[in-house]
Amino acid sequence: MAKIRVGVIGCGAIGSVICKAIDADEVSGRELKLGMELKVLIDTHPERIEELSKSLRKKPDIIKSDITGLDEILEAVDLVIECASQAAVREFVIPALKKGKDVMILSVGALLCDPGLLEEIERISKEKRCSVYIPSGAVAGIDGLKSGGIGGMHSVALTTRKPPLGFEGNEYVRERGIDLHSITKEKTLFTGSAREAVRHFPENVNVAASLSIAGIGSEATRVKIVADPAARENVHEIEAEGEFGKLFVRVENVPSVANPKTSYLAALSALATLKRISSSIRVGT
Ligand SMILES: NC(=O)c1ccc[n+]([C@@H]2O[C@H](COP(=O)([O-])OP(=O)(O)OC[C@H]3O[C@@H](n4cnc5c(N)ncnc54)[C@H](O)[C@@H]3O)[C@@H](O)[C@H]2O)c1
Repeated sequence: MAKIRVGVIGCGAIGSVICKAIDADEVSGRELKLGMELKVLIDTHPERIEELSKSLRKKPDIIKSDITGLDEILEAVDLVIECASQAAVREFVIPALKKGKDVMILSVGALLCDPGLLEEIERISKEKRCSVYIPSGAVAGIDGLKSGGIGGMHSVALTTRKPPLGFEGNEYVRERGIDLHSITKEKTLFTGSAREAVRHFPENVNVAASLSIAGIGSEATRVKIVADPAARENVHEIEAEGEFGKLFVRVENVPSVANPKTSYLAALSALATLKRISSSIRVGT
């Protein structure tokens, strides 16, 4: 069977894990059986492409640091993986879909923050009969939200906990005069809708967007942000209620080595989605 030809946009923490996994068809000695080949690599920082390319056995045919000639570049791939930035979603995903290519989006926050983008992606992908994959990212429980939503969902709530100093530099926290150094027991910094939360805590945007899209939308999804001295890493708790009953999921995320703001699970969720694409048996909703 012909290999699926892949183009990756973004050679950062997530992109590097994806490219190395496709190239070696394994992660930490565990075989993936993806049947994919890396054809295109794009990043605005040429040195990042170079660094990543050095670690690959087979160099991609096309390496670029801008979008000139994007139309021809897209001819060389079947699947475009965006793992760069919110801006890159509009920049690469829309042209890829227009060319009839399948896409995977990691910067899912763009679908919440860029007005009309989600609808545009939905319209073009339907027209061109392409698939748009949005991995679960740094959270779990998306399968339950999707199933529960079919029967009717009453509420979805996300609580994100981080060590207090993890909020250093956050404008919303600074404006409220909260001294992060003096927090000795858990303190709620914010409660509100997912739509409001992403404005004040942009670092939470991807998780809030995934949950909103899979569940009941960004106005109805409730978000609570907690500075918790007992938390060692980013902890996400999801609680949902519907006709199906109740769901509670807690994820304690390990940060990725290359970018401490990105959970390792997010990169792994992209690989799990690739496995799903290439497998004939698809477990989970
Ligand atoms: N879905 C999730 O749960 C989840 C979790 C973590 C991160 N993310 C998102 O995934 C994306 C990648 O995360 P990361 O940790 O790998 O980031 P990173 O900063 O480590 O790497 C991003 C790379 O993309 C490049 N880039 C940025 N904009 C670009 C553009 N317009 N064109 C080409 N290259 C561009 C940068 O130069 C950088 O090398 C981010 O948008 C991040 O917010 C999503």
